[in-house]
This record gives sequence, structure tokens and C-alpha cells, in this order.
Amino acid sequence: MALLQVLHYPDPRLRNPAQPVAQVDDEVRRLVDDMFETMYEAPGIGLAATQVNVPKRIVVIDLSNDRTEPYCFINPKIVAREGEEETEEGCLSVPGIYDTVRRSRWVHVEALDRDGKAFTLKIDDLLAVCIQHEIDHLDGKLFVDYLSEVKRGRIRKKMEKLRRKIL
Ligand code: NI
Repeated sequence: MALLQVLHYPDPRLRNPAQPVAQVDDEVRRLVDDMFETMYEAPGIGLAATQVNVPKRIVVIDLSNDRTEPYCFINPKIVAREGEEETEEGCLSVPGIYDTVRRSRWVHVEALDRDGKAFTLKIDDLLAVCIQHEIDHLDGKLFVDYLSEVKRGRIRKKMEKLRRKIL
């Protein structure tokens, strides 16, 4: 397995829309494993392939404290949603920034698992928020897009300053 580099906002590659995975093969499984490793190392609770510069519709999530609830969603699709909920969100691509986003309270997701098997899942609370956040990534969208332009401008400046410090 290997650690992958996570792109940081406002990197334009985070805006690339991801393409569906045609076949879940060993290459895809290797990517999934690397994404899990990268997410755990960060540490984070969710990661989309877009964030590691792979434009494929793949998401990994684990909300547990001890890495015991790994979820892999390949070609995830929200087929139903209900309710509303406001949650404070963060993102590995926007490090150090947290803000409140309004999303659906529960969602019904269809996807393929790591073996390419189709499954559907009805989820709520943090897992529902997380999958909505990650599917946004696959569509080139970030949680800061839900914030005001003023706030987003401030975050952008902060991220650019941070990047200059690192380089
Ligand atoms: Ni994110």
C-alpha cells in the first residue's frame, strides 16, 4: 500500500468531475486500499478519489475511532433523500477549516463495494453527511462552496498563505 498526496483547496484539479468506474478490478482495489491508508494516516473520516487526483467515482469512509467500520462506495448514487440537518464539516483538502453546512438528514445510496458487488444503504446522521460531502467531491464541489463568498475568499487566502509556507 502507499500513501497518496491529498490536493488542497484551491487546487483546480479538485474541480475535475470524476468518471464512473467501468470495472472493479485489482487496480481499482489497490487504489481503494491506498485511499483507506491515506485517510487513516491523515487522519480523516472520508476521502474521495478526486482528492488524490484520480478522477474516478470512488469514496472511502470510516467513522469509527479504531478503523473497524470501513465503507467503500464505488459509483455511489443518492437515489432518495429526506429531511435537513446542519453539521459542522471539515475536509482533508481544506485543512484547519470547519464550518456549518446544511444537508439531507438521511439518504438512500446505491453503489458497488470493493468486490464490485452492488448494494444499497439507507443511512442517516454523520454517515449520511459524510457520503453527501464525498459525492460532492466527485462532482468537483467542496464544502466551502456552500459558504458565503466573503468567507470562501478568506479561506482561500488562508490556504494560499499556508501553501507558501510549506513550499
Ligand atoms: Ni472533503
